[in-house]
Parts: sequence; C-alpha cells; structure tokens
Amino acid sequence: MTSTEKSNRLPQHIAIIMDGNGRWARARMLPRYVGHREGVKAVRKIVEACHNKGIRALTLFAFSSENWRRPRDEVGLLMDLFIRTLKKEIENLHRNGIRVRIIGERDAFPKRLRELIAEAEDKTRANASMDLVIAANYGGQWDISQALRVIAGRVATGEIQPEDITPDMIAGEVSLADLPEPDLFIRTGGEQRISNFLLWQLAYTELYFTDVLWPAFNEHTLDEALQSFASRQRRFGRTGDQVEQLKGA
Ligand code: IPE
Ligand code: IPE
Ligand code: MG
Repeated sequence: MTSTEKSNRLPQHIAIIMDGNGRWARARMLPRYVGHREGVKAVRKIVEACHNKGIRALTLFAFSSENWRRPRDEVGLLMDLFIRTLKKEIENLHRNGIRVRIIGERDAFPKRLRELIAEAEDKTRANASMDLVIAANYGGQWDISQALRVIAGRVATGEIQPEDITPDMIAGEVSLADLPEPDLFIRTGGEQRISNFLLWQLAYTELYFTDVLWPAFNEHTLDEALQSFASRQRRFGRTGDQVEQLKGA
C-alpha cells in the first residue's frame, strides 16, 4: 500500500461517545467520580494519540443534554471536573497547536465554566494542527433545531423562501459545519446507540462499538478502531464495483 492510500484510510474526523466511566469505577468498588477522573486521563491520551497520527478533528461527547437527569452530586462533580480540566490542559493544548471549541447549549453552565470556555476558544482560535471539539450540554436534536431557527429567521425576513431550504443549507448551520464530516464514530462501554449525539452529521459515518469502558480506552484500542475503519468499503449508495472503478480512475 502506498503512503497516500494509507493516509486515505485514516479518518479525518473521529467522533467519540466516551461511555462506561461509572461501570469502570463500580467494577473496582470505587465511587463513580473516580471513573470520571480516570476518564479524563483517557481523554488526554487519546487527544495526544490522534494528534500524533495526524487526525484533523476529534469530537468528544462529554455531557449530553440528557445528563442533567443524573443525581445532582454527580452533575456537580462533572462540572467541577470540566472546569479543572479546562484550566489545567488549555496551555498544553495551545502549545501543541490544537484549536479547542465547545458545542452545545452553554447557557446552562455555571458562569465560571462559560468564561473558561470562552477563554479557551479565544486563545486557541488561530491554531491549525488539530481541531478538538467537546460536546457539552449537547444534543443532536437541539443542534438541528438551532440550525432551523437560523434558517427560519431568514425566511421570516424574506431573504429566502421555504422552498430554498436544502440539506446543504441545513448542513451549513449545524455544529461542525466547517469541519470535514465525522468519518469514524466510536462508542465505548458496550451500548449500541447514538444517545442524541451528532444526529445530522453522522448520516454516512462508519460506526464502531466496543465493550471497552472509556477509562480503559487507549492508543491500542484506538488502533483497533482505526484498523476496522481502514478495512471498510465506503460506498455512499454506489455499488462495490463502482467504488473500485472510481478508485482506479
Ligand atoms: C460516560 O460514562 C460519562 C458521562 C456520561 C458523563 P457514564 O457515567 O455514562 O458511565 P456508565 O455508563 O454509567 O458506566
Ligand atoms: C452518552 O452517555 C453521553 C456521554 C458519553 C456524554 P450516557 O451514558 O449518558 O448514554 P445513555 O443515557 O446510557 O444512552
Ligand atoms: Mg453511560
């Protein structure tokens, strides 16, 4: 395999549902927050591994719009962990040329966290070696509705007509519109569901599920996912033969 072929087989954008922190802790008779703390260590390892491999963008699901339903204590601990981690890691991310952004409805976050998010995004805005996206208070249905609100506003002012609305227009307004579409989705922790993550953006993403619990996910288990991705034929509606012919062309 030539190096171009090889790099074509590397996803440009990986989106991960980091699930299984609680079960990782419970298996060790530890409180759930220890699982979340270990989960942050796994985040650091995976960001570094993706950066080293030359992945363009990494989107991590950190807190869903449904996670507010958890016990108050756990939600509070997760917010604290988010604040501490952002504070601690942002310099290092910046030094490595990583651009950080948070997607989701941030109004619901504590003020200190909103400020830190704004600082992190401002500081790293011009960086270009990798995009790191953290989905926090994010829901795919929220994302599509916020996009539709923007578009409906244009209809209301007469700038466009309802019949002008196209999938491309919606794609331009949902989160991550400026990034290559996620080509590999990974969910750790054994569940096989999307849990209201990137609903629009995952339309043609390759899905990979593993039983490994998030705190135990590492470069080795990431490589397994990458190998699975590399072995797949992405057809986008065409036949396998057509795809082979296009490759040869
Ligand atoms: C994922 O791990 C982290 C968050 C949702 C914040 P969980 O906390 O869902 O872990 P399990 O699924 O209970 O093991
Ligand atoms: C999804 O995990 C959200 C994050 C990883 C942040 P959950 O553990 O909350 O998902 P469900 O509720 O089991 O589907
Ligand atoms: Mg879970």
